[in-house]
Amino acid sequence: MEFNTLDEAEVEAKTVILRIDINTPLDRDTHQILDLTRIKNAVPTIKELVGKGAKVVILAHQGRKGSRDFTSLEQHAEALSECSGIKIRFTPDLMGEKVISAIRSMRVGDVLLLDNVRGWDGETLKLSPEEHSKSELVRKLAPLAQLYVNDAFAAAHRSQCSLVGFAPLLPSYAGRLMEKELKTLSKITTNPAKPFIMLLGGAKFSEVPTVIERMLALELADKVIVGGLPAHAFYKAKGVLLGAPTERSLQREGSPEVYEEIKRVFDKYEAQIHLPIDFGGEINGKREELRVDELPTNLPLLDIGTQSINEFKEVIAQAKTVFVSGPMGVSENPNFMKGTKELFTAIVHSDAFSLVGGAHTIAAVKKLNLQDKISYISTGGGALEKYMIGKPLPAVEALKEAKKRMES
Ligand code: 3PG
Repeated sequence: MEFNTLDEAEVEAKTVILRIDINTPLDRDTHQILDLTRIKNAVPTIKELVGKGAKVVILAHQGRKGSRDFTSLEQHAEALSECSGIKIRFTPDLMGEKVISAIRSMRVGDVLLLDNVRGWDGETLKLSPEEHSKSELVRKLAPLAQLYVNDAFAAAHRSQCSLVGFAPLLPSYAGRLMEKELKTLSKITTNPAKPFIMLLGGAKFSEVPTVIERMLALELADKVIVGGLPAHAFYKAKGVLLGAPTERSLQREGSPEVYEEIKRVFDKYEAQIHLPIDFGGEINGKREELRVDELPTNLPLLDIGTQSINEFKEVIAQAKTVFVSGPMGVSENPNFMKGTKELFTAIVHSDAFSLVGGAHTIAAVKKLNLQDKISYISTGGGALEKYMIGKPLPAVEALKEAKKRMES
């Protein structure tokens, strides 16, 4: 391993600063937590640290300043306490006098969750780990702790203070979730069981050509099934007229450069890229199927069609590894859940090792009650995407640097 894990950490009677990612979808009106996935995934590391006699100070974020889901972490502390069976105290402060004295008076086995770290503007400044290590937060908290543990895989693509700023100063370790995510991802990006099929859907598509090119050029993936908005973007890049509603849904991300890139990658790897040959369109709230040669249409295209589903199911049946990012259509709407439901069901009925990630994909998996049948559900969204593109994750790089420093 290029970074240290909890196997190497001596935590007994020590104060540990633990960064976790419990950034969670909240109800628009009540701000209640809607999904416990990330909170449950944070529990093993907390339990292990407490079990080994550490005093644990937790840093985490919720939302972004100015956004609707930017809230205090009080209810996260309650949810963490319930999920872990460990009393997790919350302090509505990050580095004030009260926090400092609360940390100083912690006893073995105590766990303290500090308030939303993004409440402090220094957290999100675009700085290097060394620069962040000189920040107010690190200067105040690092002297109170002996170790730093980063378990926030889902935020590992951010070079933010609490994610990278402690590693240059304190002995630093990956938590169990970070370790598990990186080990599992490295399995499918170094030596996947073949054939390896990728399903790329959802509502974002600008990075899709980069992911496809990398995975096919490295001969990691064998075939790519494209659904959701990325499928529409591929057809647009090929010059197919889709119709006004679909064109509108592509506007946010669809720049000429993105379409050029999609076309380049499609031309290069056409034989390995499977696009849907039909779609589920919406008419008066109902589903109507259309073939690609019937486009353009004024119906919004909200799912892949039945012929495509059948063709894709055959591809999936051969797979030994499947990676899924994004549903095949608007899976929140029962009329347009069909493509996602049938393909996800085919995946869990195949012999393949399946890895899924991204908030919408996980929501669809849960809606279909398939969560226990998927081999691995990643907590990462943006971090997973960046990993699949092959870009370094700053928080992981900081842990690697810390290991080198600790060994020298
Ligand atoms: C996520 O939900 O992807 C992570 O918590 C990172 O959140 P961010 O996109 O607001 O940085």
